[in-house]
Amino acid sequence: MTTFSAPKGTYDLTPPESETFLAVREAISAPLRRAGYGYIETPGFEHVELFSRGVGESTDIVTKEMYTLTTKGGTELALRPEGTASVLRAALQRNLHRGALPVKLWYSGSYYRYERPQAGRYRHFSQVGAEAMGTEDPALDAELVLLAVDAYRALGLREVRLLLNSLGDQECRPKYRSALQEFLRGLDLDEDTRRRIEINPLRVLDDKREAVQRQLADAPMMRDHLCEACKSYHEQVRDLLTAAGAEFEDDPRLVRGLDYYTRTTFEFVHDGLGSQSAVGGGGRYDGLSEMIGGPPLPSVGWALGVDRTVLALRAEGIAPEAPARAEVFAVPLGEEARRTLFGVVTELRRAGIAADFAYGGKGMKNAMKSANRSGARFAVIAGERDLEQRTVQLKDLESGGQTEVELDAVVETVRRRLG
Ligand code: HAM
Repeated sequence: MTTFSAPKGTYDLTPPESETFLAVREAISAPLRRAGYGYIETPGFEHVELFSRGVGESTDIVTKEMYTLTTKGGTELALRPEGTASVLRAALQRNLHRGALPVKLWYSGSYYRYERPQAGRYRHFSQVGAEAMGTEDPALDAELVLLAVDAYRALGLREVRLLLNSLGDQECRPKYRSALQEFLRGLDLDEDTRRRIEINPLRVLDDKREAVQRQLADAPMMRDHLCEACKSYHEQVRDLLTAAGAEFEDDPRLVRGLDYYTRTTFEFVHDGLGSQSAVGGGGRYDGLSEMIGGPPLPSVGWALGVDRTVLALRAEGIAPEAPARAEVFAVPLGEEARRTLFGVVTELRRAGIAADFAYGGKGMKNAMKSANRSGARFAVIAGERDLEQRTVQLKDLESGGQTEVELDAVVETVRRRLG
């Protein structure tokens, strides 16, 4: 007999750890909902072209990391490696951009990248993201950054740092790009990197290798090449963040791994996570709509990695609130009691009280063991003699005290005693 295991780079979420993931998704989405972001869900796969055009032909995501497939009908699809291109595609397709602007949307789901798996880097991972589309306003960039800050704060994380940069716009970036290329062409670099200089020189700044970094000390920085409009925009974002009490570090080398960014870019990093330290990231993408065939639609957004946020919580020793467990556990003795108590459990649940049942016809001893293990406050125990008198035994599993309760009064009694 063979048994199967999950594919490389993936993992299953099972209780109780799975509860932490739900808590993280909830903590990230709650501030978004309060700020007027509506929930959007898009398919798990899209036309390959959407990502090659949107995310960028020269990015690692598109050249190396996409799970692509050709359908029997010959359509080229890709499992979504990220959410922004899909959300924008959906907004355009549904004409949301013709209504009130900005269109504010949030999403939560699975994403797929064929990366080399390691701690914090998976081939199937989970993000919660937000996009605000159709408006160019530094306050919108600041709003999104602050909503992420609030989410991390609500989770109790203290060691998340915010890195901030501006990547300029179509006015100043091309000039900077040429200046950077000129500088990079003069360095001692391998063939692959030299090719990258011609296609995507900004990515070279992000090269992690020591030998490359050493040569980049005097590289021209976007910060020193921003046009007046970009400079002023960035100053306003910084001022708004400062006024709101958000701490950030200016990081002129922050380039991000997707090609659609313009102006504001940011990343949230956690130092307890080793090399995969980015717990979330995002920025402005004023040109993306046009890149995928839409009208001009300046937009900004982010995605926070749920998996890495869970790792960050673990690194800081934070356990989110314990999941709701059974408050009452029913222990029937005999067939008749099984039927009656099954009814009691159903009634308790309908009354909003978490209840569970000793399934599998266990004996008294085993059933009580299950009751104790369940973490329930009360056990409802009934045998034939109890049922003849239309009563049950209500046992307080904390104090050990036991009282007889009328069958018809179980729900009320439990409710009162749970406070
Ligand atoms: P990203 O930086 O590629 O941005 O991903 C956002 C976050 O997803 C990362 O910071 C990380 O926490 C998590 N993540 C990415 N790849 C993996 C992986 N292989 N394993 C585990 N976690 C991972 C985006 O995806 C953009 N769409 C964000 C955005 C939205 N920009 C504008 N709007």
